[in-house]
Amino acid sequence: MDRQHVESELDLEQTLFTEDEILARLREMAAQIEADYEGKDLLLVGVLKGAVMVMADLARSLDRHVEMDWMAISSYGSGTTSSGVVRILKDLDTDLTGRHVLIVEDIIDTGLTLSWLVANLRSRGPASVEIATLLRKPEALQMDVDVTYVGFDIPNAFVVGYGLDYAEQYRNLRCIGTLAPHVYS
Ligand code: PRP
Repeated sequence: MDRQHVESELDLEQTLFTEDEILARLREMAAQIEADYEGKDLLLVGVLKGAVMVMADLARSLDRHVEMDWMAISSYGSGTTSSGVVRILKDLDTDLTGRHVLIVEDIIDTGLTLSWLVANLRSRGPASVEIATLLRKPEALQMDVDVTYVGFDIPNAFVVGYGLDYAEQYRNLRCIGTLAPHVYS
């Protein structure tokens, strides 16, 4: 879905990143990841559902073998702010013992989800656990999360598109934009 399909409804306040800008940044991140993990096996762990698009494009930008696995955890209610409540809805299929794990996320908002997830995965005996996120909101961070790969730092606004939803909509929008307050107020 392109921006013009929601523009008429005035849903998007502002486009933050076009599809081309997102893909270009993911290619840069992939190059860094290739260099850092040279000679090591790599397991990408995607966090459903928001990270689906990032995972698909980041993984395809990597010119090397990777494995992919998925977790589903709940961190939000149906509203627009983090609740801090985290529970596993779907666990990994992969044994992490001795594995180099790179968590792939669409966004770090308060950091509550990721700090919980990193601790959870580290308790499973991996060789390493690092984080790659396309977006980060520095002003919203409530927990100190060590993020190795960040696509873009963004303002503390409600963003949708490229996997990010509001009430399960807008995930298939190609760009990332801020949602007009009238949509969620
Ligand atoms: C989003 C995002 C992260 C989390 C970040 O997922 O994918 O997992 O919120 O928020 P935090 O830093 O404040 O903890 P969400 O719970 O919206 O689920 P979704 O990926 O299925 O949309």
